[in-house]
Amino acid sequence: MYNFEKYSGADSTIYHGDCLGALQDIPDASVDLVFADPPYNIGKKFGEFKDSWPSDKDYAEWCYRWLDLCIRKLKPTGSLYVMTSTQAMPYLDLWLRERMTILSRIVWHYDSSGVQAKKYFGSLYEPILFCVKDAKAYTFNADDIEVEAKTGAVRKLIDYRKEIPTPYKTTKIPGNTWYIPRVRYRMPEYENHPSQKPEALLERIIKASTNPNDLILDPFGGTFTTCHVAQQLGRRSIGIELQPDYVKIGLRRLGIASHFNGEQLRALDKTYVRKNGNGVRGGAIDEKQTGLFDAQV
Ligand SMILES: C[S@@+](CC[C@H](N)C(=O)[O-])C[C@H]1O[C@@H](n2cnc3c(N)ncnc32)[C@H](O)[C@@H]1O
Repeated sequence: MYNFEKYSGADSTIYHGDCLGALQDIPDASVDLVFADPPYNIGKKFGEFKDSWPSDKDYAEWCYRWLDLCIRKLKPTGSLYVMTSTQAMPYLDLWLRERMTILSRIVWHYDSSGVQAKKYFGSLYEPILFCVKDAKAYTFNADDIEVEAKTGAVRKLIDYRKEIPTPYKTTKIPGNTWYIPRVRYRMPEYENHPSQKPEALLERIIKASTNPNDLILDPFGGTFTTCHVAQQLGRRSIGIELQPDYVKIGLRRLGIASHFNGEQLRALDKTYVRKNGNGVRGGAIDEKQTGLFDAQV
């Protein structure tokens, strides 16, 4: 038996509770796009919740339960994007390819300024599967997501294979490797969450796979990036989240409420503290020396 609270604004709804319960409240075949970014089973802390299952198989079986519900919520023309760790993705890939059509296996890659692996090749990407219910009827707005073509067009080359030689096109539809920087403390979009996804990542997915006023579902809201970007792009959304601290971020970010249980919801008050060479805090803030700053939350 699952309990949840529901908060609704003009274009977005937040469920506070376990997605396995909240998903059952959403009508079947009502959603155009699901974006699912679950805990990865890598031991992160999400508030009270420890992201750890007894085995890979236990984790995969938990994923199959909410994936099954998400697929049911999708319209026949709907799309699903799902993320997980590189090591867990093969389980989801094998399971999903029997139930949907996997159109793209996307690699979201980024650089890292954190601790570097010294005895193996460090992980600098996260996989995303893009699946559709019906490979003959789904939304894909290629024109809305074109990027600069770093080919002949940039060097102003002419394509002489054409009957009338023409300059190369200057834009193209992105391939399946996406370089998008991770969300850093100093970025305006940063919220206090260990696994916030960049707005740019969601913008590409939402623009490609939905039209204005479509309904988007995110069963693991976190900071509610999906719902926030959906709102900016004129789409409707539903986000689900278990932890009250993250629900508070969503209520504020989506303009649904200014208070939660009597507490006023405020944006994060960011401060920057300069470290000297010995790691001791102190000294004036110098905006140019970003490498010297530590986040204080
Ligand atoms: C990887 S994070 C999602 C981050 C999000 N995409 C963002 O951009 O902020 C996964 C989230 O799922 C939440 N969560 C974990 N188990 C859950 C469950 N059973 N139902 C709903 N949310 C859950 C965690 O608290 C965490 O905030």
